[in-house]
Amino acid sequence: MRGACSMTYRQLYQALLADLNQAGRESARFDATQLLSHFCRADRAFLLSKGDLPCPEPAAKQLWAAAKRLKQGEPLQYILGSWEFYGLPFAVGPGVLIPRPDTEVVVEKCLALMQAVPAPAVCDLCSGSGAIALALWRHLPGAAVTAVELSPEAATYLRQNIQTLSGGAVQLLLGDVLQPLPLPKYDLIVSNPPYITLEEMQTLSPQVRREPEMALYGGKDGLTFYRGIAAGYYSNLNPGGWLVFEIGCSQQESVLAILQQQGYTNLFCQPDLAGLPRCAGGQRPIIAPGDTPDAPC
Ligand SMILES: C[S@@+](CC[C@H](N)C(=O)[O-])C[C@H]1O[C@@H](n2cnc3c(N)ncnc32)[C@H](O)[C@@H]1O
Repeated sequence: MRGACSMTYRQLYQALLADLNQAGRESARFDATQLLSHFCRADRAFLLSKGDLPCPEPAAKQLWAAAKRLKQGEPLQYILGSWEFYGLPFAVGPGVLIPRPDTEVVVEKCLALMQAVPAPAVCDLCSGSGAIALALWRHLPGAAVTAVELSPEAATYLRQNIQTLSGGAVQLLLGDVLQPLPLPKYDLIVSNPPYITLEEMQTLSPQVRREPEMALYGGKDGLTFYRGIAAGYYSNLNPGGWLVFEIGCSQQESVLAILQQQGYTNLFCQPDLAGLPRCAGGQRPIIAPGDTPDAPC
């Protein structure tokens, strides 16, 4: 066959697996399957049924180039250029945080809180790839969703994901969430902000270090964004509106204390599937102390 490499798909898979194992990749089998599927369009089913066919040379070349990048420490997700979150394919690459399964608990909680709110107004602060904003837009009928992001690199992926996954319906605002932004009132404000402490930054794996520092570092104690957002966006919530955060495993107490201090009520902490506290939030009271209820007509 013209342009075919000397290896069959199955031989290529086995050679790649051996190469990644030799390089000490713990997830060698998963990586090899993903790379073969992406660069050679050969998933498991294809390997089983057509694994004895020769793989085209250009695809095999791309596969080995990708394996080299992986062995040099680049995240698999960046190499593939796309990663699934909440059943949706997000464009990702250098400069944007890779959406994590940990964040799905945040989306679940937001959906539960907005279940009874028709066409809610939602704002996702520190939106990154748009994982939360777009998952919510997809699952909240009629929702008006705004995504706020500061990094121009991350915003490139965000813009692309907004186009592909919402046809441009989600509004993108480039801005610093720690500065006053011209935003209206929302039924839900959600954020997975940077929350890694200075100490934890020193212990990150080489792979996580490839992700942008500004997506990870949350100030010395990891709480800068929780303080800034809880204080700065209270008035951007409709009475009865919710503020929902993703939090680090050990931040439950501190974040709930911040929310309480700022006047939020009905505070909650939602564990993820592993039972770890990964989502916390609270509600702007419908009638706050000092508010005068509207006089009856
Ligand atoms: C932990 S990532 C979360 C990304 C995305 N929401 C997710 O869950 O995958 C935090 C994001 O906040 C952005 N960011 C950092 N500082 C910011 C700021 N001051 N204003 C707006 N966005 C900021 C980073 O660029 C990054 O995209």
